[in-house]
Amino acid sequence: MSAPHLEHLFHPDNAREYTSGITEAIRLLIDQLAALEGPTTGISPEAAAKPVAEVDLDNPLLDSTAALAEVGRLWLKDAVWFHDPAYAAHLNTPVVIPSLMGELLMAAVNTSMDTFDQSVGATFMERRLIDWTGARAGYPEATRDGIFTSGGSQSNLQALLLARGEAEHRGVPLDRLRFLTSADSHFSIAKSARLLGMGDAAAIAIPTDAEHRMDVVALREALDECVVDGLVPAAVVATAGTTDFGVIDPLHAIADACQDFNVWFHVDAAYGGGLLASPKYRHLLDGIERSNSITIDYHKTWFQPVSSSALLVRDLATMQHASWYADYLNPRESENPNQVDKSLQTTRRFDALKLWLTLRTMGPDQIGAYLETVIDLAREVYDILSVQPDIEVITPSQLSTVVFRYVDSHLDETGLDEDGLDDLNRRIRAEMWNGGRGVVAATKVDGRQFLKLTLLNPKASVQDVLDIIEQVRTLGRAVPEVAR
Ligand SMILES: Cc1ncc(COP(=O)(O)O)c(C=O)c1O
Repeated sequence: MSAPHLEHLFHPDNAREYTSGITEAIRLLIDQLAALEGPTTGISPEAAAKPVAEVDLDNPLLDSTAALAEVGRLWLKDAVWFHDPAYAAHLNTPVVIPSLMGELLMAAVNTSMDTFDQSVGATFMERRLIDWTGARAGYPEATRDGIFTSGGSQSNLQALLLARGEAEHRGVPLDRLRFLTSADSHFSIAKSARLLGMGDAAAIAIPTDAEHRMDVVALREALDECVVDGLVPAAVVATAGTTDFGVIDPLHAIADACQDFNVWFHVDAAYGGGLLASPKYRHLLDGIERSNSITIDYHKTWFQPVSSSALLVRDLATMQHASWYADYLNPRESENPNQVDKSLQTTRRFDALKLWLTLRTMGPDQIGAYLETVIDLAREVYDILSVQPDIEVITPSQLSTVVFRYVDSHLDETGLDEDGLDDLNRRIRAEMWNGGRGVVAATKVDGRQFLKLTLLNPKASVQDVLDIIEQVRTLGRAVPEVAR
């Protein structure tokens, strides 16, 4: 057995080691930033996997400079950079610097949010942020509550757990419960039905209208059908906005339906939640205040690092469905404010610190201004693309996505059919990744292959985005020879 090398511990004795280690890591990062030539290098899975597999984890380098250099080689040099204006793929954001200060502090102190005796003031900072966000959503001061979670999927799962708990409380058997959500909602809703033991058939997909928003007439019909079939709607989930189209379901009309059928109303605002900080576009979330629960992803439209999300609830009593008590951690008789009482997690990061520092350094209007910038960018890009003959765009977003595909403008001459176009667009995306100078996402619309820009970089200009489109166009002209 080797003697422990205690200079590696974060400890007052090792302040010098800590400072030099963190400084080295920062230098690696800054050097890498200076050397970047695009949002990624286009590395293949095989090329990324090989050097990782070759590392002998039982044979350490015993030197932080060498270990950092290795990390630089295995990951950092090929990382995907969300601050690069040519990155426009998934719902990732460049992050704000105050949040990174929070990340550094929380990781070193290693605060855990489960109980007061592991977190002290952090518990109250988290609670203030939950309360502040709930107030912005319009929830009543006397009853609102919530909890930070690891992400939108977990927030949705917990919301549906609470909805299920409320329905079961009324004596409804599990196999009769149903969740209703639009066909364009995030997959975590249907997955939650499975995780909650209700089976895949328990998630009913409601058709959407031409703008990809939930069709409320169809929702009401489905709710009626449930009643006729002896089924019990446990929750209706509205999306604000959808992952692909960035559109917001009609919240008031859905709230009316939930009221009429006495159903839990959950709003998945993982994407659109940042509108709560936007004076210009806050109205897009009107009606959210009538919900029972809301998912907010600070790590999307609040420009926070992963992970940072919250579940908000209108009525704190409903959080009891997630409660469990243990003598060794949070005994029932404890008078401490233990956040674990309402969390699905036990040991939990102090992610709230990042948002706290962001709000105290920048203020909420700045976060709102960042989001407004990308929404306006998406609108402008949409307008430009919608009149270009070789680009087909789908419904304008209320947030910041643009769904489009390259359509060969000489379609008739070239004889490229719909299947050929699918293949062409798939290949354009793959080739763009390989080139490392741009990244777009892909999705299907009515079974057809489309490409997607998710614009979340407030420093990106219209010209930056049009440059990505120009890459698409160039590849679109070059690739058909192979696709045909
Ligand atoms: C509408 C919506 N809900 C939920 C999620 C899941 O969030 P997370 O990835 O944080 O689990 C996403 C992710 O993109 C989303 O777009």
